[in-house]
Amino acid sequence: MFKLKATLAAAAALCLFSSGSVFAEEKVEVLHWWTSGGEAAALNVLKKDLESQGVTWNDMPVAGGSGVQAMTVLRARVTAGNAPTAVQMLGFDILDWSGEGVLADLNKVAEEENWDAVIPDAIKRFAKPEGVWIAAPVNVHSTNWVWANKAIFDELNLKQPATWDELITSLDKIKAAGYIAMAHGGQAWQDGTVFDSVVLATGGPEFYQKAMNELDEAALGSDTMKTVFDRMAQLRGYVDDNFSGRDWNLATAMVINKEAGVQFMGDWAKGEFLSASKKPGEDFLCFRFPDSQGAVLFNSDQFVMFAVGEEQRPAQEKLAMSVMSPAFQQAFNKVKGSVMARTDVDASVLDACGQQGQVDLAEANKSNKLFGSMAHGHGAPSGIKSAVFDVVTAHFNGEYDSAAAVEELAAAVQAAK
Ligand code: BGC
Repeated sequence: MFKLKATLAAAAALCLFSSGSVFAEEKVEVLHWWTSGGEAAALNVLKKDLESQGVTWNDMPVAGGSGVQAMTVLRARVTAGNAPTAVQMLGFDILDWSGEGVLADLNKVAEEENWDAVIPDAIKRFAKPEGVWIAAPVNVHSTNWVWANKAIFDELNLKQPATWDELITSLDKIKAAGYIAMAHGGQAWQDGTVFDSVVLATGGPEFYQKAMNELDEAALGSDTMKTVFDRMAQLRGYVDDNFSGRDWNLATAMVINKEAGVQFMGDWAKGEFLSASKKPGEDFLCFRFPDSQGAVLFNSDQFVMFAVGEEQRPAQEKLAMSVMSPAFQQAFNKVKGSVMARTDVDASVLDACGQQGQVDLAEANKSNKLFGSMAHGHGAPSGIKSAVFDVVTAHFNGEYDSAAAVEELAAAVQAAK
């Protein structure tokens, strides 16, 4: 018996070294845009998890917040017949790819692990279009947050602003004290992220849904939308002279380093504070964008699986199962700043901001105030998102006034439909 075992082990070892053997190396190539300090730390949790299962991780990072550049690289790779194993992707981009016949089918794993029971419909809509699971959702992010430097707030005796007027009063005081009031990076998607919050805060939840999800012409061309643009112009007065082109994580660093008072950004910003060893409630504050409390604009990072050869399937399935495992979702989201994609995972492992995020998400879902973020691929297809970004950025940079911006917005969305 012992001899037989030894012979089998030797044969297996030999196979490992011969190419094309059934014992082919298990590996995954993953395309993603998680390149900031906090993002890389979160990704590392996944890398380590797979490596502990004997799967080699080939990293394919494409820098650029919100993934616009990553999507361009992906298109080129697939056109060249060289798709990665898995790709980080957002909502409507997933739907675009689902029709192209190049994705893997995860139904077997999903059934075995009962994904249907634990992934909410708002996410399943993208992960399982037309009855086939094509992606594994790793988290839920939210964009309508404010990240503030606590020392500056304490020094100036500022309360967390709850309304737009209170926000403006706080920004004025921060500016008057010699700090940069609003840390911002002038990139289209960052302008779009601020716009997301201002639309929600100015028009309310129903208006956000009509304008940014249903693309309703009347809402897009309304007086309320003009007020939104007026407010964007007002915010423009609180950024520093060097904002143009700045990466989002460098803007977060300005809040971390007490150069700036606040940043309006999705909760991936929290990952930057944590990776700089800052603590919520002690070093920084997190609160909902004024006048948007109760509503949540969300986006979910998913790993979309591309069709790979049979020999790569086991590693691909291991990746999908890891992403969906409850323990992994806890470990990852703690670092990333997001909350769990699964509804059945204990959120008490998260810090105070994360716990608030998880509660807000559940409550917004119950009260029909949970909406897909336009700026982060969950409001409308990417052609429309780009059209919105073009107008928002041009207006933010003073190319046209608010009245013209409203007209441009309605026309651009109509043309992109
Ligand atoms: C993604 C986040 C990412 C952020 C900045 C968002 O679209 O969902 O995971 O951290 O972009 O790159």
